[in-house]
Formats: sequence, C-alpha cells, structure tokens
Amino acid sequence: MRSYKIAVYPGDGIGPEVIEQAVRVLAAVQPTGGFALEMTTLPWGFRHFEQTGRVVPEDFLDVLRPMDAILLGAVGWPARLPDHLTLSPLVKIRQAFDQYACVRPVKLYEGVRSVLADKGPRDIDFVVIRENSEGEYVDCGGRFKVGQPDETAVQTAIHTRRGVERILRFGFEMARSRRRKLMMVTKSNAQRFAYGMWDEVLQAVRGDYPDVASEKQHADAAAMNFVRRPETFDVVVASNLFGDLLTDLGGIISGGLGLAPSTNTNPERRFPSMFEPVHGSAPDIAGRGIANPIAAILSAAMLLDWLGERASGDRIRRAVEQTLAGGHKTPDLGGALTTGEMADRVIENL
Ligand code: NAD
Ligand code: IPM
Ligand code: MN
Repeated sequence: MRSYKIAVYPGDGIGPEVIEQAVRVLAAVQPTGGFALEMTTLPWGFRHFEQTGRVVPEDFLDVLRPMDAILLGAVGWPARLPDHLTLSPLVKIRQAFDQYACVRPVKLYEGVRSVLADKGPRDIDFVVIRENSEGEYVDCGGRFKVGQPDETAVQTAIHTRRGVERILRFGFEMARSRRRKLMMVTKSNAQRFAYGMWDEVLQAVRGDYPDVASEKQHADAAAMNFVRRPETFDVVVASNLFGDLLTDLGGIISGGLGLAPSTNTNPERRFPSMFEPVHGSAPDIAGRGIANPIAAILSAAMLLDWLGERASGDRIRRAVEQTLAGGHKTPDLGGALTTGEMADRVIENL
C-alpha cells in the first residue's frame, strides 16, 4: 500500500478546529483511495510558547524535512503574543523549503453567494499564483535609533531574476492546463527597480508560451478588476505581498475566506510542500465551533493531488461541491451548521 508521512500543524485559534475536520475527511477517503497517511501532529503555536517560551522547537525544520507534506491550520494569537513571533516559523518554512509556488484558487461554487452583485460561478473561477519565497517577505532590514524622534526603519524587498522567472514559468504552465490566459500583477509604474525587472522577465519568457495570452496590470487596477470584472482572469501571477493582498480579496468575492484553500509548493520536490487555508486563526470566532472547515478540507484535497492521489483529491472536491450546492452552510455563509456538522455533510457526500 502507498504510504505517506504527513506533518499536521494545527496552530492557533480556529486552526485546530478546521484541521480536526480536514483530518477526518482525509481518513474517510483513505480506504477506497488505497493509500495510508501516517500523521504526526505537532502541538506548536501559542500554547507551545506558553509552555516552553518558544512557538516551535529549535529543530522544527529538521522535524518537518523528512515529511512528504505538511498540513497547516492557521497561526497567530495577536491578543497574547505579537504576530511576528507566531507567524515567523510559517514564513521560515516557506522560505527554507523553497516553497516558491503558492497556488490559491479563486472559485465561486454553486450554492454560494458572492458579495459581488450579479456575479455567479461562471464569472469567478481563476487562480492566483503567488511568489512565496522572496520579494517583500525577505527578512532584510533593521531599526536604527529605536525610540528616538529620528528613529529609522528599513525593510528591503528582494526580487531575483531566477525567482521571478521560475514563478512566471510556473504560471504559464498552469495557464496551459486552464484557459491559457496569464495576468502578471506588479506596481512597476511606482517601484521601477523591482517590478521593472518583473516586466523584463515577462518579456523574456512569454515567447516560450505563444499559446498563452499574457498581459500586465498594476496591483491597484487588478484589485479593482477582481471586483469589477473577475471573469477576465484565468491565471494571475503576483509577487509575495501583492499575492497575499489579492487572495484575501479573491477569498471574499468567492464566498469568503472559509472556502479558500492554498498550497505552498516546492515544484522540484526537494523539500516537503505545505497546504493550508488562505485564512488566519480568526480569533473573533475561535472556540465557538462555527468556523467553516471547507478551506482546510480543500487544502487537504490539494495535498492529496500533490502526493499523486488525484482521484481522492477529486472525490473530496466533488463532495464539497455537492455539499455547497445542497445549501449546507456554516454561519459565515449565512447558515447555522457547526464546523463538525459541515464536515459531516462532506463526509456523507464522499
Ligand atoms: P483571519 O483570516 O483570521 O480572519 C479574517 C476574517 O475572516 C475574520 O472575521 C474571521 O472570522 C473570518 N474567517 C477566517 N477564516 C474563517 C473560517 N474558516 N470560517 C469562518 N470565518 C472565517 O484574519 P485576521 O483576523 O486578520 O488574522 C487573525 C490572526 O491570524 C492574526 O494573528 C494573523 O496574523 C493570522 N493570520 C495567519 C494566517 C496563516 O496562518 N496562514 C493567515 C492570515 C492571518
Ligand atoms: C497568508 C498569511 C501569511 C502571509 C501571514 C500569516 C504571514 O496572511 O498565508 O496569506 O502574509 O503570507
Ligand atoms: Mn494572507
């Protein structure tokens, strides 16, 4: 039997609540799928900090390295611990394991209402490819004269030609499996060094994909067009920070963050890849059992795709589709199901 080692990092807030349900769904597809997942749950996060003074153990990357994949819930408990402490291991995992391709589908399902009037499932179906290893998320900078009136903070983004080229090529390949349209989002009209290089790299590689129509938009215009004309997008490629901002927007136009899954992929498979919802730990609803588990469940389906268990990933997506089309809803979608009840409906539909 095919067997895979999965690290489960539920994290903080609603992270453990939604991951519990994603793990139930994974357990439910295993027998017919003909594979086994050997799961190791890692009790890291805010609680771990309270007990040990560290959010994750010092050797956390060594613990994760031998795994086939990582399933993460969400991290952050800002009322009790500054975000840069709880969140730093997450960004370190992405960068240390060169998970440069962050794939975030923006898809409105039947049965779900968009906040956009007059937009339906046929209008909202695209994918954002976020550069996930460098750009604006590099820990490069410092503070000078801290606390003094002339205190100075410097935070430098780093964009490499190699990093930009590989994410654009990843986007072009993805476009070939979809509607063959790529939109690169930058801000090259204002930040000419970094995004000027993005423009040049697009120009240099687009010739290798004559079958894909590629265009550019500035991030401000793209944000507007996510709302105005979501149907014009197929594959959107953006830098780390712009991809982050655009995917919360992508989440809300497709029914809310409770539905939006994400990968953090190392396409060369030199390191484990990580799968997690787009959303955070949602302290405003944590502990009440009302978080929508679908984003975590769809992330688990993307994890199975990545392992080569595509048929089981598809089964989960079909069950989710059926569940949403059947009008089953947690409170964020306007319903009254609990986190566990929503997952029950998905498991019944499997
Ligand atoms: P958030 O994504 O946690 O929540 C934003 C809003 O969406 C909230 O109103 C929340 O209730 C709602 N929401 C999110 N997920 C939901 C779900 N599954 N079901 C129903 N409603 C859902 O963003 P935030 O409030 O800005 O951040 C909270 C914490 O999470 C912060 O510490 C932040 O830094 C962290 N964060 C972590 C990640 C991650 O782990 N990948 C991502 C984003 C934010
Ligand atoms: C996300 C989150 C993270 C990010 C945070 C938690 C560092 O917002 O995965 O979208 O900004 O990448
Ligand atoms: Mn985000």
